[in-house]
Amino acid sequence: MQLRDNGLRFSPITVALHWAVAVLLLAIFALQAMIGQAIGDVQQMGKLQNLLGLMLFLVSIYRFWARVTAYHPLPVGTPNPIEVIISRSVAVSLALAMVLLPIAVWASRSAAGEVMGLPGGLSIPTVLPANPDLKAIVDVLFSIGASAFLAGLALHMFGALKNHFLLKNNTLKRMLGKHVEL
Ligand code: HEM
Repeated sequence: MQLRDNGLRFSPITVALHWAVAVLLLAIFALQAMIGQAIGDVQQMGKLQNLLGLMLFLVSIYRFWARVTAYHPLPVGTPNPIEVIISRSVAVSLALAMVLLPIAVWASRSAAGEVMGLPGGLSIPTVLPANPDLKAIVDVLFSIGASAFLAGLALHMFGALKNHFLLKNNTLKRMLGKHVEL
């Protein structure tokens, strides 16, 4: 099995982890919405959300390392080089954000004096001392990072849909595992 991306194609690991991250993120957002609406057992949902966040963080460390240490496959078709540079920079930034944003959440909860519980009675140790001023700073940094991440994700998804529906090429299908000859 091809373990790393090369100039011709993404590895199956990249493809699987790409969609695993998208699903984890969606599940975290869905849980956040349910917690906000107080639907169901809020405490259990919070623990599950912490577990999904931890998984997202660990997968994303590997993913970011893999992205910056392997070739990004050549683009499908003949896109404008500026678009290629922008789309790749956005993709790398998204991968980095999935490492940094969970750290910011962890730091914010620690600064609030909150222990992050996990299912099964486990918990994530705090990383900072409880301090409201520190929490305020971390929260500002988190909201700047989260806004930039959401804007980048919107651009990324727009690019994927534009390639699929407007340019009618195999960019999205390649990320769904289709073998594409370049
Ligand atoms: C429905 C949501 C998404 C769609 C439709 C989508 C689509 C795509 C496509 C088509 C590519 C291949 C681009 C190319 O050929 O160069 C790609 C690559 C990439 N995407 Fe997404 N994506 C989505 C969500 C995400 C999310 C949530 C993240 C990270 C938070 C992300 C990060 C990346 C990265 C880092 C790459 C480069 C390949 C890699 O290392 O995984 N994407 N995406």
